[in-house]
Amino acid sequence: MSAANDPTRTPSPAERQHQQHASIRALLADVQRASGPEGLAPLLDEMALMLQEHFGHEEAEGGVFDGIVEADPMRQGRVEELVRDHRDFVDRLDRARAALGTSGADALAMAHALAADISTHEAVENELLADALYDEMQGHD
Ligand SMILES: [Fe+2]
Ligand SMILES: [Fe+2]
Repeated sequence: MSAANDPTRTPSPAERQHQQHASIRALLADVQRASGPEGLAPLLDEMALMLQEHFGHEEAEGGVFDGIVEADPMRQGRVEELVRDHRDFVDRLDRARAALGTSGADALAMAHALAADISTHEAVENELLADALYDEMQGHD
């Protein structure tokens, strides 16, 4: 059995990143498919939990973002932008959940816009991480 297939092995930060992004993508697709506010509350609850874990994972010391900057310190500014996005997303998610109590249509519009922006953010991260992993491979030649 190769190391990558050993179920007892702890996944690397990059592997966890990949798994979490896949879960988030599936949830964002569910949110974007919602055509009314019915059923939105549990999706947004799930999103809050998932994002909290995911942002913590990315921002952790020695985590994905640190790895990206370590591979090339020139990426520091872009990583800082991603961290600012995280704060913005958490605020907007809170506002969308609060809006469910007053206007379902507003909550739905906010959730759709948020899902689209998170999806763009994740794509930027994937690109940065791929670049960093590539740099690392080159460095270890
Ligand atoms: Fe992120
Ligand atoms: Fe991410």
